[in-house]
Amino acid sequence: MKKLNIGVVGYGLMGRTHTNAYRQAPRFFDLEYEPVLKAICGRDDARGKAFAKNWGYESNETDWRKLIERDDIDAIDIASPNNTHHDIAIAAAEAGKMVLCEKPLGRNPEESQQMVDAVEKAGVPNFVWYNYRFVPAVTMAKNIVDSGKLGRIFHYRANFLQDWTIDAELPQGGEGLWRLDVDAAGSGVTGDLLAHCIDTAMWINGPIESVTAMTETFIKERMHQDTGAVQKVGIDDACAFLARFKNGSVAIFESTRYARGHKALYSFEINGENASMTWDLHDMHRLGYYDYADESAVRGWRDIHVSNTSGDQPYMDKWWIPGTNIGYEHTFTHGVYEFLKNPDADDGKRHYPTFADALQTDKVCAAVLKSGKDKQWHDV
Ligand SMILES: NC(=O)c1ccc[n+]([C@@H]2O[C@H](COP(=O)([O-])OP(=O)(O)OC[C@H]3O[C@@H](n4cnc5c(N)ncnc54)[C@H](O)[C@@H]3O)[C@@H](O)[C@H]2O)c1
Repeated sequence: MKKLNIGVVGYGLMGRTHTNAYRQAPRFFDLEYEPVLKAICGRDDARGKAFAKNWGYESNETDWRKLIERDDIDAIDIASPNNTHHDIAIAAAEAGKMVLCEKPLGRNPEESQQMVDAVEKAGVPNFVWYNYRFVPAVTMAKNIVDSGKLGRIFHYRANFLQDWTIDAELPQGGEGLWRLDVDAAGSGVTGDLLAHCIDTAMWINGPIESVTAMTETFIKERMHQDTGAVQKVGIDDACAFLARFKNGSVAIFESTRYARGHKALYSFEINGENASMTWDLHDMHRLGYYDYADESAVRGWRDIHVSNTSGDQPYMDKWWIPGTNIGYEHTFTHGVYEFLKNPDADDGKRHYPTFADALQTDKVCAAVLKSGKDKQWHDV
């Protein structure tokens, strides 16, 4: 394996998941590049140093510009809030580095388009962390649809439900709460949660052509952590939308942070002519499968525990023994594997989401948000 020196921006939640994935991927998978934890970058020097020590980084930086200037860094990984993605990704691409970026790619399609243009102009491999693609049961759902077993697809439905912003006293903005500040996040549940659902849906079922949406902001004002002032809330707290796919199937998507009792209920269901499938993040190893070709006496929903290590169920042959589980963190490890086994793979041979793929998701999100405002159908 060739060495690839990584500089990660952001030592929060995603800084940890990515770092863990870089450490694990070469131990379990064959890669073209072995990631080397060269530098972590955050704004606070002491926290950066502590993070570096804990995770085994060789150094830390407090300014992402300095990180990008370093000749000993080959790839920049952006694990910081959405308002930082655009500038860091473009500067990294212009410096000739590979770029990995958290989702959503930009805060709007205009930012995302500029990021796509930058990586394409520089000709650098690029990756977006749509990690749910790499849940073995989700990858298997895609493989099953690709095999044609479901026949014509009629319906796709997906939910992503949380409940952590119900408290009206919760501030917006700043450390930990940037997701509630529209300037930092770009949007609310649409870009944060539905972007995952949209990415998975288009990966499995092809492009979305048109949408109509309903959005709601339940708490209209919140104190901003940075200014201390009570300010208008600009994000969508909840969003539901209808969609039409290019293949003729229709869809319903819903997301909220006000579904009391739900922490991260990401689920989807696909109904085809011959068979249906269901999946739920809370029970992420299981794929529900209903096959109309089964003998009628025993026809019913199968509960497939995707943990076979015989090679017919994605990724599991690289882990433990049949029937044992892997978890959330492994989805990031699989992402590193898919990217670093061949970052230069041609179109059609890549098994990872690129900036160009993520731009399509951002275009759907923008059409959804526009429809939430004007209550019309919009083509993507
Ligand atoms: N793929 C997923 O499932 C998933 C899950 C959570 C978050 N995300 C995405 O990951 C990104 C980060 O989210 P998070 O949950 O890790 O947030 P977080 O708040 O836990 O961490 C963000 C980190 O970025 C740092 N940061 C902020 N501005 C910076 C700057 N200018 N330079 C360097 N560091 C800076 C913060 O100090 C913090 O350490 C977001 O884009 C988010 O949408 C993706």
